[in-house]
Amino acid sequence: MASMSLSFPLSVVVIISMVCIHKVECVELNVGGDDGWVTPSSKNQLLYNDWASKNRFNVNDTLRFVYKKDSVMVVTEEEYEKCRSSHPVFFANNGDTAFALERPGLFYFISGVSTHCQRGLKMIVKVLEPDSPPPPRMESAAAALFPAAAFVPALLLGLLI
Ligand SMILES: *[C@@H]1O[C@H](CO)[C@@H](O)[C@H](O)[C@H]1NC(C)=O
Repeated sequence: MASMSLSFPLSVVVIISMVCIHKVECVELNVGGDDGWVTPSSKNQLLYNDWASKNRFNVNDTLRFVYKKDSVMVVTEEEYEKCRSSHPVFFANNGDTAFALERPGLFYFISGVSTHCQRGLKMIVKVLEPDSPPPPRMESAAAALFPAAAFVPALLLGLLI
């Protein structure tokens, strides 16, 4: 009689899941807090620049302007000072405006209503450079070499008689 017996080693399937940890920051800031984008009272003309100076703005943060019977413009520094622009870089008057800060540097916001702007409905926002040194981060686990686990196949051969 002939008998043959084979024993195969277990196949070990190692699934390395690559976990990409992106630092995605999608911060949305409500301009002026709960009050929104409204003409400040006469003793509070720097309201919006005070608000802006208390916040840090990064590239791709979004500013949300909530207002009634008013508008938001992005203008040049000169137009900001004059409180008027005939060709704003950006204009919205739908009452609820999200504006993405898509580059570092200065943004000048004013109300499209000149008198509101003159009463303080204006704001300069400084967006920080993105290349400020990021905190050291761990290398992805997927980049580390897995030590090879060697399995010696146990091969049993029956004897052929
Ligand atoms: C901002 O968003 C754009 C588009 O999603 C992306 O290509 C860019 O890398 C982002 N910039 C920063 C500094 O996060």
